[in-house]
Amino acid sequence: MRGLPILVSIILFSISLVTSKSYPNSVVDNFLQCLPKHYRNPSKPIAKAIYTPTHPSFQSVYELHTYNLRVLTQANATHKPMAIVAALHESHVQAAVICAKESGLQVRIRSGGHDYEGLSFSSSVPFVIIDLSNLRSIKIDMKTETAWVQAGATTGELYYRIAEKSKVHAFPAGVCTTLGIGGHFTGGGYGNMLRKFGLSIDNVVDAQLINAKGRILNRKSMGEDVFWAIRGGGGTSFGIILSWKIKLVRVPPKVTVFQVAKTLEQGATVLVHKWLQVSHKLDKDIFIRIMPVTVAGTGNGNSTVRVSFIGHYLGRTNRLLPLVNASFPELGLQRKDCTEMSWIESTLYWAGFPNGTSTDVLLNRVPNKVFFKTKSDYLKNVMPKAGLETLWKVMMEIGNMWMQMSPYGGRMAEISESETAFAHRAGTLYLVQYTAHWSEGSSEATKKYVELMRKLYAEMAPYVSTKPREVFLNYRDLDIGSNNTDFEAAKVYGAKYFKGNFQRLAEVKAKIDPHNFFKNEQSIPPFPSF
Ligand SMILES: Cc1cc2nc3c(=O)[nH]c(=O)nc-3n(C[C@H](O)[C@H](O)[C@H](O)COP(=O)(O)OP(=O)(O)OC[C@H]3O[C@@H](n4cnc5c(N)ncnc54)[C@H](O)[C@@H]3O)c2cc1C
Ligand SMILES: *[C@@H]1O[C@H](CO)[C@@H](O)[C@H](O)[C@H]1NC(C)=O
Ligand SMILES: *[C@@H]1O[C@H](CO)[C@@H](O)[C@H](O)[C@H]1NC(C)=O
Ligand SMILES: *[C@@H]1O[C@H](CO)[C@@H](O)[C@H](O)[C@H]1NC(C)=O
Ligand SMILES: *[C@@H]1O[C@H](CO)[C@@H](O)[C@H](O)[C@H]1NC(C)=O
Ligand SMILES: *[C@@H]1O[C@H](CO)[C@@H](O)[C@H](O)[C@H]1NC(C)=O
Repeated sequence: MRGLPILVSIILFSISLVTSKSYPNSVVDNFLQCLPKHYRNPSKPIAKAIYTPTHPSFQSVYELHTYNLRVLTQANATHKPMAIVAALHESHVQAAVICAKESGLQVRIRSGGHDYEGLSFSSSVPFVIIDLSNLRSIKIDMKTETAWVQAGATTGELYYRIAEKSKVHAFPAGVCTTLGIGGHFTGGGYGNMLRKFGLSIDNVVDAQLINAKGRILNRKSMGEDVFWAIRGGGGTSFGIILSWKIKLVRVPPKVTVFQVAKTLEQGATVLVHKWLQVSHKLDKDIFIRIMPVTVAGTGNGNSTVRVSFIGHYLGRTNRLLPLVNASFPELGLQRKDCTEMSWIESTLYWAGFPNGTSTDVLLNRVPNKVFFKTKSDYLKNVMPKAGLETLWKVMMEIGNMWMQMSPYGGRMAEISESETAFAHRAGTLYLVQYTAHWSEGSSEATKKYVELMRKLYAEMAPYVSTKPREVFLNYRDLDIGSNNTDFEAAKVYGAKYFKGNFQRLAEVKAKIDPHNFFKNEQSIPPFPSF
């Protein structure tokens, strides 16, 4: 049954690979001529949503929602989209899907553009971008403590709108305030409340998804399998997420934040080693992340690593201090290190805005772009001091590095690996992010840092999860493989991102998108039928 469609899609894929250098205009013309035939809302003309390379705003629309300058600079010079449909209405998304399929064009889906490898705005095959950034309404219903949030809304906008309605409600999601809800949630979505409330997807109760036929489905009509898959499996492979329905969580009127920093010379290694033993077991209301950064040497001083311990507590300082003192007295946390504030103010603190910044900055949707390469790991065991020392040594060799290590445990360990497609649950102690950043756009700089990051990754292998070496989908890394047509080949990165859930994801894919229309370089191919 499924054999023929797969064959057809493989043929289509091969054709698009062959044509990737020539970008035939006829294909785009077919696509553009098809669009008006398929939109059904005369009050929202689709012409206003279409940007082709000759449009005066094409370049700015293309670059606006992008984060990684490493990818953008390269894609901009070699493989731009053949068109961008920046939908102003959901019917524009439907038309774009139907017409791209008819014309044999691949689509890339973009909400906030923060993908670490830029898979929402770049590809080596001809493609069009379906951009959702204009679809960003947020409708909050305080009676049911739920909200419908469109894919193009940012985390900052969501936090701001919640705080407008209530000072004691919140939503657990990322600390960066310009992330697109569309891409962010579907990869898992976590922030400083994950030990209490789990991931964003653990608090999602419904969704609207456009399938490959251009139909809008909800949880009931897509079925529990698809609803399971888009919670952690990445939307890319299954359809276009238009909106999520979320359940708000309750937070106290005051939360406490703190920060303590120590360099290697001030004993950071011993402190981090203790932190590794305790922070995943602390009270669920406490989240202490560490952020090691490289500090360049000055004068006679050598370079070093400075580790910040950044804390979030869902309660007041008086209760926090004895809790931390009981299990982590070495941190030496003092009242003067702690600040009490409302939850919404804490989102500004975590996003790095200076004290006193107005919450209006949460409505700032455009990120500052950065050249960077990130890799991620999961820890199942406490890393020995030797591992930490290797880590600091390589970080200082690379320079220009920052890291985040975030404790799991708490609520994360109570949810089974198969409840959603996100599989890194009980037994996972820490999520580790390694990032090198630089400011020169040259391909030499890119090559240098990417190679150094691969070296760091190799050196850390003895200390992190194995079989598979797990990776966080939201910290996308193309180094772990890419093949969106072959199940066996995709299994390699599939196991790293999804562990035992990969096969079920491929089975769901075979049901909802057997022709493999929705894909990118790391999407999930349909489970083969024999
Ligand atoms: C500065 C920064 C801070 C971050 N902080 C955190 C954090 O605290 N917690 C965390 O969990 N992650 C964090 N991330 C990672 C972030 O969650 C992912 O990059 C996420 O994919 C971004 O979503 P987006 O919509 O902005 O990106 P996009 O690049 O638009 O999309 C990412 C991926 O999802 C697909 N996609 C996008 N929209 C849709 C849609 N509507 N339907 C189907 N597929 C879609 C895209 O095709 C792409 O493959 C951070 C990233 C950055 C750059
Ligand atoms: C992309 O290319 C255009 C020229 O085609 C140039 O003006 C622009 O600065 C480039 N952007 C980036 C981020 O490299
Ligand atoms: C810098 O490192 C060298 C070699 O490890 C060491 O001898 C020297 O004391 C260090 N200097 C400072 C200021 O720490
Ligand atoms: C921490 O606990 C120890 C005893 O366990 C106590 O002596 C000390 O005063 C406490 N410090 C703070 C800041 O509460
Ligand atoms: C932030 O500013 C307020 C006054 O505007 C001050 O009371 C508070 O201590 C400051 N907090 C920090 C962490 O600097
Ligand atoms: C994907 O895997 C198949 C089978 O192993 C192979 O023929 C094909 O070239 C691969 N495609 C890519 C893009 O690597």
